[in-house]
Formats: sequence, structure tokens, C-alpha cells
Amino acid sequence: MRSKVMFSILVLFVFTLALASAAYSEGGKFSAIVDAKSTVCYPLELTFKRPAGVLKTSFAPVSFSHGQHANIPCVTCHHMWDGKSKIEGCNTEGCHDNLKERQDPMSYFRAFHDKDAANSCLGCHMKTNIARKEKGQKPLPVSPCSNNGCHHVAQK
Ligand code: HEC
Ligand code: HEC
Repeated sequence: MRSKVMFSILVLFVFTLALASAAYSEGGKFSAIVDAKSTVCYPLELTFKRPAGVLKTSFAPVSFSHGQHANIPCVTCHHMWDGKSKIEGCNTEGCHDNLKERQDPMSYFRAFHDKDAANSCLGCHMKTNIARKEKGQKPLPVSPCSNNGCHHVAQK
């Protein structure tokens, strides 16, 4: 008797899972009032794995939350994205692929730390903190870097 109940639960579970994954793979069927034209899948939270060959640093790897940046248009950061095709990582060949020389404008380092770029982590956080200061708001704990708001792993 007990195993029969367990079996039914298992069947139900597998069935639900199959339905759910079908909904996602079809890319069009979400709720009944939605007819999706295109879909995109992206990591809500991620931790950077430093690419092999990048200069060593004593800082902990950086975590990043798309959720925390939801007010910013995708193309501010993914500035080469056409809005349709696959989104590529920052160190894609021909992009920020110089792993060694930090001073190079196309270096991997500068993609995240260019103080003058409005779409690098550091550049934008510096700009944001100037604006926050003018409004009398508390600065984000991510600039200057010594506040270590980025280079720690266990970020919520
Ligand atoms: C504040 C900057 C920022 C914004 C805004 C942003 N992203 Fe990202 N996203 C990143 C960073 C940084 C990565 C990691 C890049 C890497 O892998 O080199 C990333 C990774 C991704 C990836 C994985 C790419 C891969 O490496 O395989 C996808 C897909 C993606 N983002 C989609 C989106 C979408 C869709 C939006 C808008 C709804 C968005 N992002 C908004 C910064 C941003
Ligand atoms: C275009 C602007 C912009 C870019 C680029 C950007 N951020 Fe941010 N970031 C923000 C803003 C604005 C907030 C504050 C969000 C909020 O809480 O309202 C924020 C918040 C954060 C926080 C949370 C700080 C806290 O309150 O504890 C972290 C961590 C962070 N960003 C990391 C990153 C990393 C890592 C990158 C680059 C991969 C990045 N950000 C790129 C604008 C930016």
C-alpha cells in the first residue's frame, strides 16, 4: 500500500517535471495570457571563474547578481549584444581578451575596472556613488574597491 502511494507521488512528480520543462523548451508557453515572442535564459547570480592565463591576484573571486542590476538595461553591460543572438562572455576572442596587460583598453582587467567607462563595474559604481553623495544617500559598498564589496564570494 505504502509503496503504491510512493509510486503515485513519483509518477506525479515526473509528470509535473516533464510538463514544466516542455513549457520552457517551447519558449512560447508561459501563462495563458502570454504569447512569448522570444526568450532569454541567464544566470541570476554568478561567480566569476577567472579565465586561465589571467594575472594572479590575492583578491577573492567576484560574485555578481543580475537581480541587483535589474534597473540597468542589458545592453549597458552587454554592449555588443544585438538583442537577439546569444550573449557572449566578456573575454570572448576579439573582445576583452588581453588577459595579461592591465593597461590595455581591451584587457580583461579593464572590462571590470576602467574608471572612465560608464559600463565597467568600477566606473559605474564610482559614478553612482557621486550621484548618491549629491542626494545625501549612503554610498554603495563597492567603490572604492578597498571596501571589498565585490571581491568576496558569499554574497546574497
Ligand atoms: C550591470 C551589468 C549587467 C547587466 C545590466 C546585465 N548583465 Fe548579463 N552579465 C553581466 C556580467 C558581468 C556577466 C558575466 C560575463 C562573462 O561571463 O564574462 C553576465 C552574464 C550574462 C549571461 C551569460 C553569458 C555567458 O557568459 O555565457 C547572459 C545570458 C546574460 N548575462 C544576460 C543578460 C540579460 C538578458 C540582461 C538584461 C535583462 C543582462 N544580462 C543584464 C553583466 C550584466
Ligand atoms: C551601469 C552601472 C553598473 C555596472 C556596470 C555595475 N553595477 Fe553593480 N551596482 C550598480 C547599482 C546602481 C547598484 C545598487 C543597486 C541597488 O541596490 O539599488 C549596484 C550594486 C552592486 C552590488 C551590491 C552592493 C551592495 O549594496 O552590497 C555589487 C556587489 C555589485 N553591484 C557588483 C557589480 C559587479 C561585480 C559589476 C561588474 C561585473 C557591476 N556591479 C557592474 C550599478 C552598476
